[in-house]
Amino acid sequence: GRSAMPFNLTNRDLLSLVHHSERDLLYLIDLARDLKRAKYSGDTRESLKGKNIALIFEKTSTRTRCAFEVAAYDEGAHVTYIDPSSSQIGHKESMKDTARVLGRMYDAIEYRGAGQGIVEELARYAGVPVFNGLTDEYHPTQMLADVLTMTEHSAKPLHDIAYAYVGDGRNNMANSLLLVGAKLGMDVRIGAPKHLQPAKEHVTMCEDFAKQSGARITITDDPKKAVKGVDFIHTDVWVSMGEPIESWAERIDELMPFQVNSKLIAAAGNPRVRFMHCLPAFHNSETKVGAQIAAQYPKLKDGIEVTEEVFESPVNICFEQAENRMHTIKAVLVAALA
Ligand code: CP
Ligand code: NVA
Repeated sequence: GRSAMPFNLTNRDLLSLVHHSERDLLYLIDLARDLKRAKYSGDTRESLKGKNIALIFEKTSTRTRCAFEVAAYDEGAHVTYIDPSSSQIGHKESMKDTARVLGRMYDAIEYRGAGQGIVEELARYAGVPVFNGLTDEYHPTQMLADVLTMTEHSAKPLHDIAYAYVGDGRNNMANSLLLVGAKLGMDVRIGAPKHLQPAKEHVTMCEDFAKQSGARITITDDPKKAVKGVDFIHTDVWVSMGEPIESWAERIDELMPFQVNSKLIAAAGNPRVRFMHCLPAFHNSETKVGAQIAAQYPKLKDGIEVTEEVFESPVNICFEQAENRMHTIKAVLVAALA
């Protein structure tokens, strides 16, 4: 029973992971594992029957939206999807007012948008659990999926797993991967050019968590040093949602040495190394943006942050990672609301 839990995730927000303990995180990942097995073995459950969940997306999404919807439906809950343009939020109504309205209709609210302050304001006034589906600063639900995926692809104890994130070291993925590894006592490396490395205050906070968890943190501008000996290499887009399109030119110049190509994979020196990406990924010129970049920078026609060769190789486990978004988001919903 719930009352026997040594900690309380009931009605908990998931805003950044900063306020989640190591035990909280391990519990959510463990619950996700159980829910995944239950789904695979055809166990139908309706633990969220009668619950209503609002999904606010002020930025576009494929995985996060679908993961929340399928997770909710699997457990018998209902969702309302609010797209980036069709609500009053921001144009005619403040987040504080929106929170007080939605909190009276819904049992929980997911929010994807720009500043972390917005999701925190929503959580402050909604009176129901709020889950951050990505802000400029953090991507906490993605972290549960990433850690679950790493544990599924390594026989090592969690504490012994080493991973690197290379690329834009200041975005939501870099911040969150550093944070989750620091909390869970893992070996985390960020490989990024100096001025694209995580903010000082964030690193200091993560180093404090690392002192308690035994995590090893490395921040370096040497891509080879970042990946040496790791079990997993993560990357992400070089320009994130909400950043000006003009950022591409300078990012490409600075981040070229951090592209995940066969040379960087080889630099891990680990035959079992795996590649991870939260997706969407620019790994060829078959997308609109990929084609535009390739037209301007022919050297990137076979991939920007990751090459087509690596992406289409057995080293890539990003689709397992994508699937795990659903199982882990289900765990967040069940832990908070069931
Ligand atoms: N990884 C991720 O958050 O994907 P979406 O933007 O498609 O939700
Ligand atoms: N850093 C990316 C992640 C997308 C899931 C962005 O914010 O656009």
